[in-house]
Amino acid sequence: MINVLVTGANGQLGSELKHIHNKGIVKFDRSVNFVFTDIDTLDISNPIFLKKFFQDHSFDFVINCAAYTNVDLAETEKEKAYNVNATCVKNIVEAIKERNLSLTKFIHISTDYVFDGKSHIPYTEEMQTNPKSVYGKSKLEGEIFALQYKNSMVIRTSWLYSSYGKNFAKTIHKLCNERESLNVVFDQIGTPTYAYDLAYAIFQIVKQSVSENRFISGIYHFSNEGVCSWYDFAKLIANKAKSNCVVNPIESKDYPTPVARPFYSVLNKNKIKSNYKLVIPFWQDSLDEYFNITDNK
Ligand SMILES: NC(=O)c1ccc[n+]([C@@H]2O[C@H](COP(=O)([O-])OP(=O)(O)OC[C@H]3O[C@@H](n4cnc5c(N)ncnc54)[C@H](OP(=O)(O)O)[C@@H]3O)[C@@H](O)[C@H]2O)c1
Repeated sequence: MINVLVTGANGQLGSELKHIHNKGIVKFDRSVNFVFTDIDTLDISNPIFLKKFFQDHSFDFVINCAAYTNVDLAETEKEKAYNVNATCVKNIVEAIKERNLSLTKFIHISTDYVFDGKSHIPYTEEMQTNPKSVYGKSKLEGEIFALQYKNSMVIRTSWLYSSYGKNFAKTIHKLCNERESLNVVFDQIGTPTYAYDLAYAIFQIVKQSVSENRFISGIYHFSNEGVCSWYDFAKLIANKAKSNCVVNPIESKDYPTPVARPFYSVLNKNKIKSNYKLVIPFWQDSLDEYFNITDNK
């Protein structure tokens, strides 16, 4: 029996992992047991409890979806952001090591915000990080802790959305049905990531690791295929929602936020695609899937 622990499982990504598991969407050729936890059942900021939990259970995979994800609030709740995004990752790695589970594979999720957004070509895993926000800095520190364990994969992703939890797509979907117009920035470029697609990719990685012994540690990038601005994303959401709301393109300077976002955060996904033979959907096709799910909910 292969045992997989998922932390932060009530968030967007964790909920998509749960959905794929509950619906039996990915089949394994061995029995795989998933344990889904969140702060109420496994608070990863409590190192004593975490170590005890790892003493009592043995895991072949640990997938850490727990995070502090409020980018603006992180500027004022710095300690909390560093605690969840960095210290908690160290806690997990120490709990794995202390239990001497040297074969346990650790999959940790990070962000495009570890970059400063000054590039004009898609970011590869080797490119220089230079986070500008507390959130980005705390996530980078978490990556460093994760990679101190030899069997770790860090997957950086961007612009995550899902029918679960709070996100840009859901907010625009709601607002475009309530308002006559919306202003959305068109000078920040990136790629949306449908959390289902990332969860599906993680399942493929676990499956290939179980059946082909393929687990190649290190940093990876994952988003949907293609590129857009937040304005393009919002415009397509309004169109698909069949809303009459007018979406206006504005510049970031006219939409001040507590922390500036990277202007460019497109991720190069060649490494994850070639190492794990993944076919990643185009972001507009995934948005269709999101609408299929939410319309039928
Ligand atoms: N959201 C994005 O746009 C985005 C973009 C790029 C990368 N990422 C990364 O992708 C990953 C998944 O993001 P997401 O959007 O799924 O996050 P999310 O929806 O905010 O979910 C995070 C989950 O972690 C839980 N959590 C917080 N502190 C915890 C603790 N001490 N112990 C256990 N669980 C705890 C949260 O519970 P509470 O809700 O109760 O706090 C929440 O259920 C994260 O690593 C994030 O940094 C996200």
